[in-house]
Amino acid sequence: MMIGEGSLKMNILKNRSLTLTCGRGITPYLRREIEQLGYTILSEHDRGVEVEASWDDAPRLNLCLRTALHVMYLLKKFSCRGPDELYREVAAISWEDIIDPSEYVSVVSVVDTTRVNSSMFANQKVKDAVVDRLVEKYGKRPSSGPKRDNVVVNLFWNNDNCWLYLDSSGNKLSDRGYRIMPHAAPLRETLAASLLLAAGYDGSSPLVNPMCGSGTLAIEAALIALNRAPGLLRNNFGFMHIKNFDGARWRLLRKEIKSRARSKLPARIIASDIDKRAADAAKKNARAAGVDGLIDFYVCDFTDTPVPREKSIIILNPAYGFRLGKEIELGRLYKSIGDFFKKKCSGHTGYIFTGNLDLAKQVGLRTSRRLVFFNADIECRLLEYHLYK
Ligand SMILES: C[S@@+](CC[C@H](N)C(=O)[O-])C[C@H]1O[C@@H](n2cnc3c(N)ncnc32)[C@H](O)[C@@H]1O
Repeated sequence: MMIGEGSLKMNILKNRSLTLTCGRGITPYLRREIEQLGYTILSEHDRGVEVEASWDDAPRLNLCLRTALHVMYLLKKFSCRGPDELYREVAAISWEDIIDPSEYVSVVSVVDTTRVNSSMFANQKVKDAVVDRLVEKYGKRPSSGPKRDNVVVNLFWNNDNCWLYLDSSGNKLSDRGYRIMPHAAPLRETLAASLLLAAGYDGSSPLVNPMCGSGTLAIEAALIALNRAPGLLRNNFGFMHIKNFDGARWRLLRKEIKSRARSKLPARIIASDIDKRAADAAKKNARAAGVDGLIDFYVCDFTDTPVPREKSIIILNPAYGFRLGKEIELGRLYKSIGDFFKKKCSGHTGYIFTGNLDLAKQVGLRTSRRLVFFNADIECRLLEYHLYK
């Protein structure tokens, strides 16, 4: 029996399927992570997967996964033609078995139907149904509001179909808790981890990250190289606020997962930025992630970043014009990245993550792979360059 199994014996949470969400384009990396943890994928789509797993597996998945955003449990699927029907269907769930009235409840709705005018209205209906049921059973009213760090209920309403989930993560899993100092245009942590996994990074070869900004790629790389589960940085998840949460088992699970981490990096991680404020932010964030002594930080132009002799991964996320910088200047910058790759990085594999393919052409080198990702809503590419000697 896996640690964590059997801890939540509520009859209502008995299904053997969890829905895991991720950013667009990230499903292949999430699938790989889940399979490596020994779980079976039941189905997959653009923004997530269904996994053969029970509610009791949620703590392990929340702790270990680097690329997932939420681990959710489907409470109920029902057809629904209006707000009153929504209220009735939600109020029919035995919330008293799931939520203690001392908890704080938050509802998040994604609505694509003509049956209601706004997701706010659907939120209110679901919240009323949950709260009224708890008041009826306990005579006590839980508090509720927008904060997602306690019990989170998710409604997806599409045409006349509703899916109601319990979110075992609460806040997004990309909120690792280490970004105490953001800098310009930081990558979401789960996207940074996905880019590294897509590049085949496993910590065994050095990683160089010029233009590191607030350090997300370097920090995620360190967590991967140390085999440190990103969830260990957090001490709050949605599942902790569900009835019968077993604190002792949770502590044991954390201990078991922590014991698998290395204390030293197998190969160097080098990060640099021309802006001292960025490098300082990256260092502070790295300290918050517990990896600051392990990453070599430099304040320098990217062309002066030290590149090790051993075969390394060189990964850059330059500005790409929509959020930062100007196109002409950026064109020169991309061209000089191409020169840097040619002159200083031969024998290594280079990666550029960008949302501007016109700028990417200025690099002037042939790509060996072009992988599609999305940064917020911007379609981006992770461009791979084999930099032969
Ligand atoms: C888009 S941000 C990188 C964001 C980063 N991936 C993160 O998650 O925080 C681009 C960074 O490139 C840096 N930069 C711009 N021109 C540079 C240059 N010539 N040499 C080194 N860094 C440069 C900027 O200071 C900025 O921090």
